[in-house]
Amino acid sequence: MATLPQVKQFSDRVGRIEVSATMAVVAEAAKLKAGGADLVEFGAGEPHFSTPQHIKDAAIAAIQQNCTRYTAVPGIPELRQAIVKRHAADFGSDYKPEEAIASTGGKLALFNAIQVLVDHGDEVILPVPYWVSFKDIIEYGGGKCVYVQTDESEGFRLTPETIERKMTPRTRAIILNSPNNPSGAVMAPEDFTAILRLAHKRGIYVIADECYVYLNYTGKDFSAGSVIDAREHLVIAGSLSKTYAMTGWRLGYALGPAAVVGAMAKLQSQSTSSTAHMIQKAGVAALTGPQQCVAEMKAEYIRLRDLTLNLLHKIPGITCVKPEGAFYVYPNISAYLGKPGINSAGDVGKRLLHEAHVVTVPGEAFGTREHIRLSYATSAEEIKRGVERMQAWFAKSS
Ligand SMILES: Cc1ncc(COP(=O)(O)O)c(C=O)c1O
Repeated sequence: MATLPQVKQFSDRVGRIEVSATMAVVAEAAKLKAGGADLVEFGAGEPHFSTPQHIKDAAIAAIQQNCTRYTAVPGIPELRQAIVKRHAADFGSDYKPEEAIASTGGKLALFNAIQVLVDHGDEVILPVPYWVSFKDIIEYGGGKCVYVQTDESEGFRLTPETIERKMTPRTRAIILNSPNNPSGAVMAPEDFTAILRLAHKRGIYVIADECYVYLNYTGKDFSAGSVIDAREHLVIAGSLSKTYAMTGWRLGYALGPAAVVGAMAKLQSQSTSSTAHMIQKAGVAALTGPQQCVAEMKAEYIRLRDLTLNLLHKIPGITCVKPEGAFYVYPNISAYLGKPGINSAGDVGKRLLHEAHVVTVPGEAFGTREHIRLSYATSAEEIKRGVERMQAWFAKSS
């Protein structure tokens, strides 16, 4: 009998990527939890707050009003208007509604932006540490990640000079994420501006991930969108997930040149179409309604950051750069590498999970080998409980 030809199972495209490491940690933790383990969870990157009531009310009203059908792919006009107005009011940008697109989460906005800009063999400059999904989204599109190291001793600072050194004729885009996940680093506005102008001069796109732009603790709020003279080569990806505690609603957006936004809408028209109508209405309520909730959550994150840092500093050998934004700390655990059974940050993460029942994400997911990431978007009690467990575990391991 003739043997059947060997058929590959999946596309090369999907073979180039891995499951999101943070999602993998969440899944592993969920298994332990289902088995009855009492975990302290510093893993997932999401606010512990509930979505503000007026946003929930808007969604419920929208359902009652039958906002239950397809909408235009880039979003209802009201939402596109609300996105650009909010951004202009907060950061001095000057986008028009046709330069805005709403997406199913900021992640899809980033995915679409990268897919429409990056071709096979194009280089994309990616500062390290990086948010876990960038590498895979770039590689899925056939792009090549060109990593740029940041200086931990200077708070993970990224300078225009280090970026410029990595530019080649094949450079297509630069990813900037400030405030940064996982390090919490916030780029100095002058460094950010210099990189935007440098890229614009060379016809290279900057994709600015502003998912945490409202969680900037430096007192100097800044968006790339305020650098009007470089906007021709700038795509901003924003999200309502963290700003308004709306991770599960899946609402994000992009701002950029109308042609880029149009290409993103074309791609989106062949995948998810618009994000859900009632969610868009909730987004309008979030962006046009009272912003006090954002300030209150931010104030609480600052308190939780300080508490987490104070407690972590009590663990001998662990050092931690003070994060200036987002809701993560990124302690350096290199003092423990080489101790029995600890050869990598991955080992630390795994053993903390199984032996101390503390969920963290190992630095390998973010491109560094000497760190673990903790999200402090949880209660003060959980932070105390979790870091105490960590302290006991590290004491046993030294
Ligand atoms: C740096 C960064 N960018 C983008 C996202 C995507 O957020 P969402 O898709 O929920 O809007 C996240 C989520 O964790 C993030 O940390």
